[in-house]
Amino acid sequence: MKVLVTGGAGYIGSVLSRILLEKGYSVTLLDRLFFGTDSIKDIADRVTVVKGDVRWFNPDLLKGIDAVLDLASLSNDPSGELDPEKTLEINYEGRVRVATLAKKYRVSKYVLASSCSVYGFQDGILTEESSLNPLTTYAKASANAEREVLPLADKSFSVTVLRQATVYGFSYRMRFDLAINGMVLGFFKNGQIPIMRDGKQWRPFVHVKDTSNAFIKVLEADPDLVNNQVFNVGSNDQNVQIFDLAQAVAESINLPFKYEWYGSPDTRSYRVSFGKIRDRLRYKTSYTPRDGAKEVFEALKTGALNGDDPRTITVKWYKNLVESFSLVKSVELNGVIL
Ligand SMILES: NC(=O)c1ccc[n+]([C@@H]2O[C@H](COP(=O)([O-])OP(=O)(O)OC[C@H]3O[C@@H](n4cnc5c(N)ncnc54)[C@H](O)[C@@H]3O)[C@@H](O)[C@H]2O)c1
Repeated sequence: MKVLVTGGAGYIGSVLSRILLEKGYSVTLLDRLFFGTDSIKDIADRVTVVKGDVRWFNPDLLKGIDAVLDLASLSNDPSGELDPEKTLEINYEGRVRVATLAKKYRVSKYVLASSCSVYGFQDGILTEESSLNPLTTYAKASANAEREVLPLADKSFSVTVLRQATVYGFSYRMRFDLAINGMVLGFFKNGQIPIMRDGKQWRPFVHVKDTSNAFIKVLEADPDLVNNQVFNVGSNDQNVQIFDLAQAVAESINLPFKYEWYGSPDTRSYRVSFGKIRDRLRYKTSYTPRDGAKEVFEALKTGALNGDDPRTITVKWYKNLVESFSLVKSVELNGVIL
């Protein structure tokens, strides 16, 4: 089976692609490679890598592809606010383009990598039926994309939306801007876990291998179970309060629990139900935040991860890219004027 993974060199995509290879899938990655190729260098001879943009790649790439896992995007709230127009172009219109072309090229399954952030912050336990309350450009782009890709579903084109919880754990394109990974890095560097005030806020989490396995579950499921469906991806026991989470992170690393507060009190809190994916697809997570914290800490200790790699804070890296791009453009412009 031939699978196209957009954003395949990213934090989730680079883990997902390896699992797909282990399972015998033929894998093509479409990615702008904004974070370079380190994340895929050891699998580069086993996958087809296409450096391209979801907004304008040549659709012939989709010839012979059986399934598209659509992960490419500017991948968090702060990055989404750097240039809201571009965020909507990529995260909304780009995804709709990928899905529309996939249908046209007779791909049989399309899976959208969405986010629980489409719920915004609401009371109660949020299910796939809850109303959406996207609060940021990033969340709005995902909600818009969901709304337009789902109606493309028909008997021969299966469309599924996966609303992922916040992800954690080791990846080949590491992200320390994700809560658990950031806590571990703070602990590693300063012996203290940074905790956003006041620590009582609830958030849902999922390990990067578990979320990758959710994509594969959908890929392998009977279309009747997944077509035109939305699933939250995570597990009910990983809805956690931030202070408790920090404590678990410290315990898993086996160091005294020291922490430092940052930010002003965060009233943004939400809990999500993961019953649908569990019951309908028999999906179970295998990893806990403790496992993820331990593996990230070990990787920092052995040097497998570099906590100073500027690419690991997504918004800072995109800012650098935008600034260096503007610099190149102004130099070119000066060249023309002179
Ligand atoms: N990591 C999380 O906690 C999380 C949670 C919920 C949802 N998601 C979603 O899952 C997906 C993957 O997230 P991630 O954490 O791996 O992010 P990431 O930033 O590590 O990966 C995104 C990849 O997409 C590529 N990309 C960006 N714009 C592109 C474009 N226009 N054309 C082609 N490629 C482009 C980047 O180069 C990068 O390799 C994203 O859609 C994200 O919004 C992530």
